[in-house]
Amino acid sequence: MATIIAATGERQRGSERGAQTTTPGIHPCWCMLLLLLRGALSKPKALATRPLFARARAILDQQLEVEYWTEPERIPRTKLLERVADKDALVCLLTEKVDQELLLAAPALRIAATVSVGYDNIDVPACTRRKVIATNTPGVLDETTADFAWTLLMGIARRLVEGDAWTRSGTWPGWDLDQLLGSDIWGKTLGIVGLGRIGVAVARRARGFQMRVLYSNRSRVAPELERELQSEFTALDTLLRESDFVTLHLPLAPDTRHLISTAAFEKMKRSAYLINTARGPVVDEAALVDALDRRLIAGAALDVYEREPEVHPALMGRKDVILAPHLGSATIETRTKMAVMAATNVASLFEGRRPPNALNADLLGP
Ligand code: DGY
Repeated sequence: MATIIAATGERQRGSERGAQTTTPGIHPCWCMLLLLLRGALSKPKALATRPLFARARAILDQQLEVEYWTEPERIPRTKLLERVADKDALVCLLTEKVDQELLLAAPALRIAATVSVGYDNIDVPACTRRKVIATNTPGVLDETTADFAWTLLMGIARRLVEGDAWTRSGTWPGWDLDQLLGSDIWGKTLGIVGLGRIGVAVARRARGFQMRVLYSNRSRVAPELERELQSEFTALDTLLRESDFVTLHLPLAPDTRHLISTAAFEKMKRSAYLINTARGPVVDEAALVDALDRRLIAGAALDVYEREPEVHPALMGRKDVILAPHLGSATIETRTKMAVMAATNVASLFEGRRPPNALNADLLGP
């Protein structure tokens, strides 16, 4: 059973207390031997900014002495810098920045493992310069995130959230011919921006809806995959002009920040919907508000925001948007797998193995 050392509580290690107590009558040689043994047996230290899940804790606790942040609110930056100072490993979330400042505050740090596939919270080049391995959790959340992109797509097309609110309000007068009319999905055109693992999982689901699938990507995927997905590689402009649903599945990078801005909205169909389960800053939120006001598009379903947890205030009261709180990978199964993956990355390093998901694997040599 994993032991949680509450990060806010008193940290007392039994072995330390034992070793520091000089028992009268014990020969100094024995004391020395005890100290040497303690040194040999002491585990590397880690900070986990959340209690994670039992399966992940079991992996970490075997190899490391782990301090878990257990407070309900997320760890404040000052505390993070303070707690990580003497640690060899850090398990963090996408809400914690691993940057130059943190790396300087943690001179012994050997690995920073984010429990997320997106790693825009980690300055990987800075980690590499300081010989800190950075890891993420790719693969395990693809299907879950694709499910959620579809949840949003169907929810916005069929006005599910509006309908739910109406039913709960007690004012729904009963069925009528022209109530809350949405938009068909079956047979329409889906535009996938970024055909990585999650984009592919989204495309596979589109086949069940007999959709035309367009994709834009840094490079064209293998012809066999294109055939399997029945998808067409297009320029982003064409995708924006021809799609009924535009769904984003690309990482946040300098060249993807505000990729979807006024110029993009102006190209989209007036009946089109935007779905974003990638990263908030890929969409210019102010431009989205303006596009909705000008009815350049029909609506948007968002799971991520430019300045999380803040949401552009003008989006809050709108009925033509769905605003989800970054739930893409939020299932018990997947979040557990992600935490286990991050824990395995850390434990591997201290077992003398290669962390399977190193982002700067060159540091590990051949
Ligand atoms: C990620 O992993 O990057 C998601 O945004 C959260 O699951």
